[in-house]
Amino acid sequence: MDKAKREKFLKQLMGHVSGAALSGMIYVGDQVGLFKAMAGAGGLTSAEVATKAGLQERYVREWLSAMAAAGIVEYDAGSERFTFPEEHAALLADDNSPSFLGGLVQSTIVMLRAAPRVAESFVHGGGVPFVEYGKEHVAAIDRGNRPQYQFHLVKRWLPAMPDVVERLEAGAEAADIGCGSGYPSILMAQAFPNSRFYGFDVSEESLDRARTDAHSKGVADRVEFQRVSATELPETRKFAFISSFDAIHDMVDPRGALRGIRRALADDGVYMMVEPRSGDTLSENLNGQGALMYSMSTLHCMTVSLAHGGEGIGTAIGQNKVQELADQAGFSRVRRLPIEHLAQAFYELRP
Ligand SMILES: C[S@@+](CC[C@H](N)C(=O)[O-])C[C@H]1O[C@@H](n2cnc3c(N)ncnc32)[C@H](O)[C@@H]1O
Repeated sequence: MDKAKREKFLKQLMGHVSGAALSGMIYVGDQVGLFKAMAGAGGLTSAEVATKAGLQERYVREWLSAMAAAGIVEYDAGSERFTFPEEHAALLADDNSPSFLGGLVQSTIVMLRAAPRVAESFVHGGGVPFVEYGKEHVAAIDRGNRPQYQFHLVKRWLPAMPDVVERLEAGAEAADIGCGSGYPSILMAQAFPNSRFYGFDVSEESLDRARTDAHSKGVADRVEFQRVSATELPETRKFAFISSFDAIHDMVDPRGALRGIRRALADDGVYMMVEPRSGDTLSENLNGQGALMYSMSTLHCMTVSLAHGGEGIGTAIGQNKVQELADQAGFSRVRRLPIEHLAQAFYELRP
């Protein structure tokens, strides 16, 4: 046995275990408001943090120790004070920052809760249905994605398709498939007051959130959220623009979904498909991002599809797979849009 190799792997494995435990601690800190309490407050003792957050000092002290050991907060041994640097606060204390990762951490914890059920599925088949991940899952997906949409959808992503922007400005009908909590449709309705938007999803929990949000933002007269599967989109209505964000790879029947989208798209329409940024082969994904994708796929994306006897396409959906789905659905042009993003890839599909 190569001892050095074993030692190296031991360190690597301990790093993974520590990361998992820390994710739990970050989740707790986020849930009880510790990051928000510390943001911009300078150096604080554990007692001051506890008072500021209205929490039990002993718990807070242990949590701070873990955060300091992991380099998430800074510790000054002389004054026994903890500081949460503003560069870190943007990622964990500010839900409205474009780099906020609190939603991703929350999603990860929600997915980990399903691990025992997923393990059973390895043995007996099937999977864990989306609805069984519960309300918090829907909220966490929304929370994780919302800042991206808020900062980039209208300003950076749509302008990659100038004819789409022109048509939405003039007035058109558009649909978002697998709309979840509906924020992209709401943002587009705010940006393009001459257009009408439809959000389709199969999750009642998500649709309820979407409708409430559209009302509160004053756009409910031009945004409609309906419980319709991508495979059963209305054939009578032809949309000038269709989008889907992080949704197709989760579906029971992704090929049927793309066929449904093709049928519902006007012949001169555009479909923007946003899916995880992935290589086409396992060899291309042998890195940290690949580890996250395949893990999330197993703990959620693939299993929610397999739960209903679906294809279980998985999170690592590369450009070749997108091309294959597009070809099968009858799209004749597929273009990878020149949008830089760490985790997502953007495709423009035309009939
Ligand atoms: C990961 S979530 C993404 C939600 C939203 N697009 C976002 O970016 O926040 C995937 C969504 O696809 C929806 N979905 C799954 N199968 C569907 C289908 N056949 N038709 C429509 N929506 C579906 C799920 O209910 C879920 O809301």
